[in-house]
Amino acid sequence: MWTFDSQHKYLVELFKDLSIQVSSSEIIGVKVALRRFRSFVTDHFSAEEHYMRQMDYKFYDAHKAQHDRFLQDISAIEPEELSGEIIATWAAWWLCHIPFSDRPYGSNLKSVNWSN
Ligand SMILES: [Fe+2]
Ligand SMILES: [Fe+2]
Repeated sequence: MWTFDSQHKYLVELFKDLSIQVSSSEIIGVKVALRRFRSFVTDHFSAEEHYMRQMDYKFYDAHKAQHDRFLQDISAIEPEELSGEIIATWAAWWLCHIPFSDRPYGSNLKSVNWSN
């Protein structure tokens, strides 16, 4: 059973893997790590949005807009273009999004029956 918080922690591991692969300059490894990262982020956002709709969360539209914008950003990058600077920008977004956008609707309380 995943909680949203455990998904957030796993995302930190995916960020680390992305950084390692970019540092190693092995494009196959970058492609695999980026695909895994995008897939997990997409599933995580879908799970959060499903939960927020269920609870009729009043800031759903604004929260979903943040998710959509981030998905656009991570989908627009080719593996060859990915850099440590871009990863740091994405990580900074997460460090703001989790405490200021996810916490207010109680993501830390929710267990979800969902696995990657
Ligand atoms: Fe989240
Ligand atoms: Fe979120």
